[in-house]
Amino acid sequence: MDPGAVVALALLLTRMYAPLTALATARVEVMSALVSFERVFEVLDLEPLVAEKPDARPVPAGPVSVEFDGARFSYPSADKVSLASLEEVANLDTRGGVEVLHDVSFRAEPGQTVALVGSSGAGKSTIAQLVPRLYDVDGGAVRLAGVDVRDLTAGSIRETLGMVTQDGHLFHDSIRSNLLLARPEAAEEELWDVLRRARLDDLVAALPDGLDTIVGERGYRLSGGERQRLTIARLLLAQPRVVILDEATAHLDSTSEAAVQAALGEALHGRTAVVIAHRLSTVQTADASW
Ligand SMILES: Nc1ncnc2c1ncn2[C@@H]1O[C@H](COP(=O)(O)OP(=O)(O)O)[C@@H](O)[C@H]1O
Ligand SMILES: [Mg+2]
Repeated sequence: MDPGAVVALALLLTRMYAPLTALATARVEVMSALVSFERVFEVLDLEPLVAEKPDARPVPAGPVSVEFDGARFSYPSADKVSLASLEEVANLDTRGGVEVLHDVSFRAEPGQTVALVGSSGAGKSTIAQLVPRLYDVDGGAVRLAGVDVRDLTAGSIRETLGMVTQDGHLFHDSIRSNLLLARPEAAEEELWDVLRRARLDDLVAALPDGLDTIVGERGYRLSGGERQRLTIARLLLAQPRVVILDEATAHLDSTSEAAVQAALGEALHGRTAVVIAHRLSTVQTADASW
């Protein structure tokens, strides 16, 4: 063989090795994919703790009141909400079952703003999670417009309620699509209108990509206050009949708190609202506090 043929042969041999080794590892990949599939299907097959009744009805039209009537609640223990296949590897927390809410009763009339003030760990966020029926109460009842939430359809509850939490969540997507989640058919002017009312229009207008700026986990970093005002803008766009604010201004400095406060004033106008705070400044304008 001449030198050229030897070099060519060596090169071709190495190129043959790569696919052969890939073929050898294919079995491992198929096996691990099967395991992952098992997990995925296990999650898909999971029975939700909260199920909609077959004869559930939508939230009645018109103004909505929020009512807690002797509500008792304890969080389900970890073994009730965890997956069987994960339990072998994880050491489950066996606590839980401790009653967090003991006989809670209050009422927010339609259009009224009710403040809920208490130290941390008192169960305020738990109350906020029971209104959209993320969990069911163990005793008593939670009612929207006088109807037990267990008799209402999940979709209509979601349409009725708007919530702003301490850490407003944004998806890794443009500002526009984050806003449109609230109302997909909203027009461009409406988006700018809610941004203006949330005191965020100047900031968005100054961004190089404007409404198409990608925000969220790996996108443009909005500050805590800006993120919160964006979730408020989303709330203004959705126009829910009931608004729940869970310590919406707790982590803000006084300048951004003033801006968020102004935006919240817009959000609460004419709506039934439950405002949760551990500082009284947030709730001074409330009609009643519990
Ligand atoms: N997901 C959960 N699972 C179990 N216990 C929880 C959970 N969330 C909160 N708790 C407990 O419920 C109690 C009330 O919490 P929370 O409603 O968050 O209080 P607050 O919002 O008033 O600070 C606390 O003792 C807390 O440890
Ligand atoms: Mg809380």
